[in-house]
Amino acid sequence: MSDFKTLVRSAWDAAWNHGDCDALDAIVHADYELENAGLGRTSGLADLKNQVLEMRLAIPDLRTTVDKIVVDGDDFALFWSATGTFMNAFGDVPPTRRVLQSQGAVQGTLREGRIIRERVAWDPTVDMLSDLGTPGLGSAFGRSTGASGSTALEMPSIEDLKEFNRKFVTGVTVVTTQDSAGRPRGLAVSAYMPISLDPPLVAVCVQNSSSTYPSLFESEHLGINIIANTQRLVVDTFASKSDDKFAGLDWHAGPEGSPLIRGSAASIEAEIKERFRAKTHVLIVAQVTYLEVSNVDPMVYKAARFYDGGSLIEI
Ligand SMILES: Cc1cc2nc3c(=O)[nH]c(=O)nc-3n(C[C@H](O)[C@H](O)[C@H](O)COP(=O)(O)O)c2cc1C
Repeated sequence: MSDFKTLVRSAWDAAWNHGDCDALDAIVHADYELENAGLGRTSGLADLKNQVLEMRLAIPDLRTTVDKIVVDGDDFALFWSATGTFMNAFGDVPPTRRVLQSQGAVQGTLREGRIIRERVAWDPTVDMLSDLGTPGLGSAFGRSTGASGSTALEMPSIEDLKEFNRKFVTGVTVVTTQDSAGRPRGLAVSAYMPISLDPPLVAVCVQNSSSTYPSLFESEHLGINIIANTQRLVVDTFASKSDDKFAGLDWHAGPEGSPLIRGSAASIEAEIKERFRAKTHVLIVAQVTYLEVSNVDPMVYKAARFYDGGSLIEI
């Protein structure tokens, strides 16, 4: 069996660390099956090779190590670890440039000295992205169930939800960051939420169709500007798809380089801590590192209209 272990180590190294996926042909049986326990999906060797190539594209400096192989009759278990930097998009997830530190195990069966079936619990589309700081809010997208846990609930219509949201009054923020070329980027966001004061955590929610979205994955920091009652045009600019929203705008860089817009009611710079992928949106949780508050009143946003936050009637 030491031959098998040597062959596996060498094929693994060739495929994962050098991109020579055909080296895997030497260790698998013609009827090879790959069972992904996490996703409840079974596929074959072609799928495994694709996975390896996709991961190597996303993580060009990927280094994986076989830490241990245990063989017991026709059963085996392989324990591995991996490191690397998330530099290129993986599927529709933009790179975070975070360093991967992952470990996993594969359980399998041999026939005629070759691997006929492998069972993995680790899935790159779930676990790797989670290890890279972009976990998905997976449970939020399963089937809804009633209190008994059995009956499917009818979903409210999008129109009803919009009606509900129109009753919620918010301010308007402009969320900013720098892209990989160091250019300022930003968009208007009403989905801002303070989370806690100690630690000073805030959250914003951004749609993945936004052109600012990839930069928010690459960047370690972001700016959040609470728009003032005098900045109506600034909102229009940052709600647009304009190429250079910062042209003619009075702004300065925060200590970590995030664009802070002068004349805002208040601005913060924050270090991005988590990015939760939520299908069409990403929920970004960040820790405030710098703050500016002016004496200008904020703008108020209610049911798609803007109001002067300085002339509200107290009740
Ligand atoms: C008042 C207001 C609030 C908005 N809130 C959000 C929001 O919370 N999240 C979001 O992703 N887009 C929001 N948008 C839409 C974006 O600002 C808009 O799609 C913008 O064009 C995106 O720009 P980009 O693609 O250049 O990033 C809002 C727009 C307005 C006018």
